[in-house]
Amino acid sequence: MSALAKDKRQPDRSRQPDCSGRTILVRGPAALRGTVQVGGAKNSVLKLMAATLLAEGTYQIANVPQISDVLLMAELLAALGCEVTLPSHHDQEPLMITVPERIASFASHGIADRFRASVALLGPMLARHGEAVVALPGGDDFGARPIDMHLGGLANLGVEVEIIDGCVQARAKKMRGATIRLDFPSVGATENLLMAAVGATGTTVIDNAAREPEVVDLCDFLTKMGARIAGSGTNTLRIEGGNPLSLAPADHSVVGDRIVAATFLAAVGIAGGEVTVKGVNPAHLGVLCGKLRDMGMAMQTTDASITAIVSARLRAAKFSTLPYPGVATDLKPFLVALLATAEGVGSVTENLFAQRFRYVNELRLMGADIRIDTNHVVVEGQDRLQAARVTAHDIRAGAALVIAALGAHGETSVLEAQHIARGYDDFAGQLRSLGAEVRETVVNRR
Ligand code: EPU
Repeated sequence: MSALAKDKRQPDRSRQPDCSGRTILVRGPAALRGTVQVGGAKNSVLKLMAATLLAEGTYQIANVPQISDVLLMAELLAALGCEVTLPSHHDQEPLMITVPERIASFASHGIADRFRASVALLGPMLARHGEAVVALPGGDDFGARPIDMHLGGLANLGVEVEIIDGCVQARAKKMRGATIRLDFPSVGATENLLMAAVGATGTTVIDNAAREPEVVDLCDFLTKMGARIAGSGTNTLRIEGGNPLSLAPADHSVVGDRIVAATFLAAVGIAGGEVTVKGVNPAHLGVLCGKLRDMGMAMQTTDASITAIVSARLRAAKFSTLPYPGVATDLKPFLVALLATAEGVGSVTENLFAQRFRYVNELRLMGADIRIDTNHVVVEGQDRLQAARVTAHDIRAGAALVIAALGAHGETSVLEAQHIARGYDDFAGQLRSLGAEVRETVVNRR
């Protein structure tokens, strides 16, 4: 466990991923062999951390990945008055959060606007003290990411919401349970409204709710804290709220990161070899695994691992991104990279984020043959890609460039690779442990 900084409320940054400029250098081609362990899901742990605001006391959260978004959320919680102790690298200790009797109601610019998950503070802050000011969220650069469903749902619960000076200002004397029908099963809106609803008087029904494993993980955590939630994992959530809140801290272990696991599966699909990915529930990647088998990847699974074996070039396939249990939008850059080296013409149709295509130009620099037609990407597979100097624009795009480079001739430089550290715990080191020739250089900008 890392020592706390002088001010106990400030998490110790010294052993954590930072925001320095990084370049990952990959020399390909090389097959991957061995075992990797994936940690807890970024998109779960950030919401679990926000949910701790719902009750005073001390929490222990295990299986927390060492990623920079966790550090940002820790800083936000510290700014709200919590004591946060981050585990130091690979010591397997839990993340500890102690929430005070009264939390601040202002999550400021400078941290909150640097990542998307900060918006998840709104629900718990409102449930706890009836007011919240949260800077509009930042996050990955793949087009407009409105929060209208979050705010519309809160309004249904009786919250007055205004946007002033780039902040969401929300206030409710008393939230009342309501029926909320989401236009789309938004992960973030479902989670935010779930956390608000536990502090509303009476019953809230969230219809067309998201069913992602990370939403289920949040429901499990809230239930351990004493919340009454029915329908977890279905598209209708029913929450029996309570005001004042009668929740208590709980301990929890974060669900395995299915997106990181899928990254390694795609990596072995590109590079060839045999890799066992531990720490993931294969059922969370059911549709993807079916497709990869169709492409020629042999697979063996246990309750918590997937072994992928690739002894020949994979065949192309057609993918379509959809809410869970469909193929997640986060996987799209890996699938495009995979198709870039598969045999034949494949495609990926994006149904969630309009502009999630910026990495395509970077893959083209490596010789990939990719056409974009509105939300469809058509990819003609090449025998081999060529090394190039490419730039990561977001977490998943960056990881996709690294795994594409495993199948390219020569040394590829992936610039701005610090984006990858937002969601991957020592990605370069994990690939090295599988036999890949991967180095990382850091240009400190602090
Ligand atoms: N949307 C709206 N209005 C809203 C909310 C969402 O129009 O109020 C739209 C979005 O613009 C998008 C669609 O609904 O077109 C789905 O967005 P969703 O709300 O489900 O996504 P999110 O909660 O903002 C989370 C993950 C993303 C992941 C998506 C989809 C976090 C912090 N982020 O985002 O993860 O792609 O769900 O599964 O949980 C990543 O990890 O790299 C990442 C971007």
